[in-house]
Amino acid sequence: MKVTIVGAGAVGASCAEYIAIKNFASEVVILDIKEGFAEGKAMDLMQTASLNGFDTKLIGTTGDYSKTANSDVCVITSGIPRKPGMTREELIGINAGIVKTVATSLIKHSPKAIIIVVSNPMDTMTYLVHKATKLPKNRIIGMGGALDSARFKYRLAEALDAPISDIDGMVIGGHSDTGMVPLTRLATRNSVPVTEFLSEERLNQVAEDTKVGGATLTKLLGTSAWYAPGAAVSAMVQAIACDQKKMFPCSALLEGEYGLNDICIGAPAILGKDGLEKIVEIELSDAEKAKIEESSAGVRKTNSLLEV
Ligand code: 2OP
Repeated sequence: MKVTIVGAGAVGASCAEYIAIKNFASEVVILDIKEGFAEGKAMDLMQTASLNGFDTKLIGTTGDYSKTANSDVCVITSGIPRKPGMTREELIGINAGIVKTVATSLIKHSPKAIIIVVSNPMDTMTYLVHKATKLPKNRIIGMGGALDSARFKYRLAEALDAPISDIDGMVIGGHSDTGMVPLTRLATRNSVPVTEFLSEERLNQVAEDTKVGGATLTKLLGTSAWYAPGAAVSAMVQAIACDQKKMFPCSALLEGEYGLNDICIGAPAILGKDGLEKIVEIELSDAEKAKIEESSAGVRKTNSLLEV
């Protein structure tokens, strides 16, 4: 299994580190345009191999896509991250051009690769990659829901004063401060609905804290977060590499599912060796349906800024 990560910034490097530590990939190529940066990150990570006990080979390259040839999975993290006070949508002007060029260059060298899009605004960037590459829809997956769900579980565990391993929950919808739809109704602690333990008011607070999870960290860190995004990507790559058939909410091209068409937005999906193998349709309440509708209107508004 060969994985390419484009962008050696904090998210790309963190993702490379988690993939290496989990030891399921034979090779991880990190590509960046900044001279020597990816080479440096790869070398630094390789020097952790004997300490952390992995055999994954990490290689860095400054813009040489031939080194990425025949990758099974490619992760696009390139572009600029948001600064405090910025929305993900504000990044579209710069990131759209970068993501389009990166995606087409990757596919030229790895025509069979599955692409995971991380760059923001992520749902729109995933849609752009579909339009630019015209690859089958199972091979282009946006990373948002896996991260947002991890943040949701963190907030639920905090509210319940419970270990995170007790918690299950999902966030669907757009990967934006207003577009996320945390499914509080379906979240559980050891299969008991969390609604049994938390008041509606506390659950609404959990949902709000989840939705601004990225913005809260951007304010604290001065730039976008990287550990949880890197871990979310690595979990998705592992599900594909190890054909786990694991369910993650992912930004997927919808063709009628959830009543939506021609849009990439977060929906529960099964990830396995063929990438996004199936979109899972669950019965939503009227209130959840209305939130998805509103979320999709926001994503479409950002999509309308694309020149594809
Ligand atoms: C986040 O931290 C990377 O969009 C990203 O939410």
